[in-house]
Amino acid sequence: MGKCLDCGSWNSLAEERVSKKPKSTSRTQISSSPIPLSQIELHKEVRTRTDISELDRVLGGGMVTGGVVLVGGDPGIGKSTLLLRVAEKMALKKGRVLYVTGEESATQIKLRAERMKISSSEIQVLTETDPFVILQALKKESPSLVVIDSIQTMNSQQLESAPGSISQIRECAAQLSSFAKTYGCSLFLIGHVTKEGAIAGPKVLEHMVDTVLYFEGDKNYAYRILRAVKNRFGPSGEIGVFQMEEQGLKEIPEPSQVFLSDRKKNLSGSAVVCAMEGTRPILLELQALTSPTSYGMPQRVAAGVDQRRLALLLAILEKRAGLNLGASDVFVNAAGGIRVEEPAVDLGTVVAIASSFRDAPVDKETVLIGEVGLDGEVRAVGQVEPRIKEAQKLGFKRCIIPRWNKRNLSRDFQIENIGVGEINETINFALTHKSREEL
Ligand code: TYD
Ligand code: MG
Repeated sequence: MGKCLDCGSWNSLAEERVSKKPKSTSRTQISSSPIPLSQIELHKEVRTRTDISELDRVLGGGMVTGGVVLVGGDPGIGKSTLLLRVAEKMALKKGRVLYVTGEESATQIKLRAERMKISSSEIQVLTETDPFVILQALKKESPSLVVIDSIQTMNSQQLESAPGSISQIRECAAQLSSFAKTYGCSLFLIGHVTKEGAIAGPKVLEHMVDTVLYFEGDKNYAYRILRAVKNRFGPSGEIGVFQMEEQGLKEIPEPSQVFLSDRKKNLSGSAVVCAMEGTRPILLELQALTSPTSYGMPQRVAAGVDQRRLALLLAILEKRAGLNLGASDVFVNAAGGIRVEEPAVDLGTVVAIASSFRDAPVDKETVLIGEVGLDGEVRAVGQVEPRIKEAQKLGFKRCIIPRWNKRNLSRDFQIENIGVGEINETINFALTHKSREEL
């Protein structure tokens, strides 16, 4: 059949034959009679710190025994590098680790290990794609940690569909994770984020695993962000920051310092904002550039911030602050290649654009925090105090925050906090560097 009867698209059907053999009962055995909630015994999960502090933070305090973690990310972002380091640390702490590779040869793994100066005899490398064979090896070795690199290369003989198809990925992941749960070893699955096509991405596995981490970052920058999208054993939304170096990934425990390190003094179009990533405040520089459109439609280009949010903020600036941006190209960039999607960076975006448009620098000792509403009003944001604390820690002199937040601060800070109610006032204040009384 060439056409899908459901959505009407052509050539979108893929054949997936399922063999007659009964599927292995791969699910964990669960008692099927109901028990009162009050009588369920609580087992504290056993955690092992990997000693990669940025990873431990994202996992919620370390690896959980029997936990299944999916690490997704674009090819080449550093997934194998990270997990080889995890393998080394866990081999030191808990003994035997099995690194299963269906993607690279054992020699390639060795080369990477050489580069990262890892030579543990407790790390066993297995070049295999059949989960049946892998499970045999697992039972024999009984490792404390298993890494599957990558789940898309796994190919169960019980299914006739191609490796990388949705049913293959699901079945292989189910078999492996049921082993992990039964034998109490930790399991890391690597999944490539792929363009739509025959190969299914990590999304199809998200519901089957305990923790989903995405490794992201701009290939042109060395920074890599590890983000917990789902976590059954801890908070989600936490991020870990790494830097790719010659000898593997380096942890960045103080990301704000790094993201602000290249900041030039007193250039127009730059503003410092504070975004919350999980429980962690991160200061970063937003850069804006406006220039007269030379031909046709003005361009609006956003890197690291949401394109639609930018369009909205530009409309607000036109209407409420009288900035005539209709004939200007506008470029906005979050420096360092990080992505920020929180509305609390709105105020900084607006001020950076106004600063470039008027060619007046923003005071470099100021951090801007606040969401901007359609009326040009500055709206309150959550978790303002940790943000102020971070700004204070990094030696900034003042924070511009929403008036409502200012009124509700629970304590005093050394750093000066200025409450603002709408964007005109904020822009004037941030660009003229006058004190409040002078305005
Ligand atoms: P890799 O872990 O192979 O990516 P993935 O498994 O996500 O596909 O890492 C890919 C990139 O990292 C590769 O381009 C080389 C670079 N790299 C370093 O810069 N330093 C290192 O020490 C290592 C091991 C890799
Ligand atoms: Mg890899």
